[in-house]
Amino acid sequence: MSVHTSLDRSDPSAAVRRPVSIHDLAAAKARGERFVMVTAYDASSAALLDEVGVPVLLVGDSLGMVVLGYDSTVPVTLEEMLHHTRAVARGARDALVVGDLPFGSYQEGPTQALSAAVRMLKEGGASAVKLEGGGPMVATTERLVTAGIPVMGHVGLTPQSVHQFGGFKVQGRDPAAAERIVEDAIALAEAGAFAVVLEAVPAAIGATVTAAIDVPTIGIGAGPHTDAQVLVWHDLLGLTSGRLPRFVKAYADLRAEISGAIKTFQSEVADGEYPGPEHTY
Ligand code: KIV
Repeated sequence: MSVHTSLDRSDPSAAVRRPVSIHDLAAAKARGERFVMVTAYDASSAALLDEVGVPVLLVGDSLGMVVLGYDSTVPVTLEEMLHHTRAVARGARDALVVGDLPFGSYQEGPTQALSAAVRMLKEGGASAVKLEGGGPMVATTERLVTAGIPVMGHVGLTPQSVHQFGGFKVQGRDPAAAERIVEDAIALAEAGAFAVVLEAVPAAIGATVTAAIDVPTIGIGAGPHTDAQVLVWHDLLGLTSGRLPRFVKAYADLRAEISGAIKTFQSEVADGEYPGPEHTY
């Protein structure tokens, strides 16, 4: 029996499909194989991403902004995250499902973080959690990993700290700030994080961290040198309206497709064209 070692799971006949684990991601990095992570918030998009072969689905707290209509990720609750993580876990088959710990569910310290993370795995059905920040989050990461919970770190622009940053701004532009981000990423990896997200930082930071740690770096606005790239579902598919961050590339224009489809539905109903005989019992 051949064992499928590649993270490309888009060809089901190529090998035996089995769930993606955190060890597959480290092995991909060791082979120099780049991969993607995409956010998902419901079962149907999770099923589609899984079918296409995306190895890691992040139930990001970006949920708050792209699905729930909040101005930032700060108001997102653990209950909201659990609700959507459960849906994604039901839709995904083999992909690794990572649930974001929302603001306020882990900042009090390792004990609070452990109970939130346990809920994310037991009630949400996630296989791993993500948390934002370095510094005190290093000890928190160590505590969760010791308890058997895989942790994805996240440094650079950590959106839960938007009020501290004074907006969604690129981080690490001056040498001292850049050094802090690199040190935080290395410390998270040493504490046992299985991957580290680098958001909105100069490409040099992406390259430095990627060379310094054995676990994958996952970039979003961190340049071309990270081991993986992540995009938010709505941004990737052209569903987001308004000004987008420089790092976003829309691979489709679904906003235009969807509004075209809805307008056609409206006009066909107005004209009596739909439903036709083939849609009628
Ligand atoms: O919440 C989220 O979607 C994220 C990714 C953009 C990394 O944290």
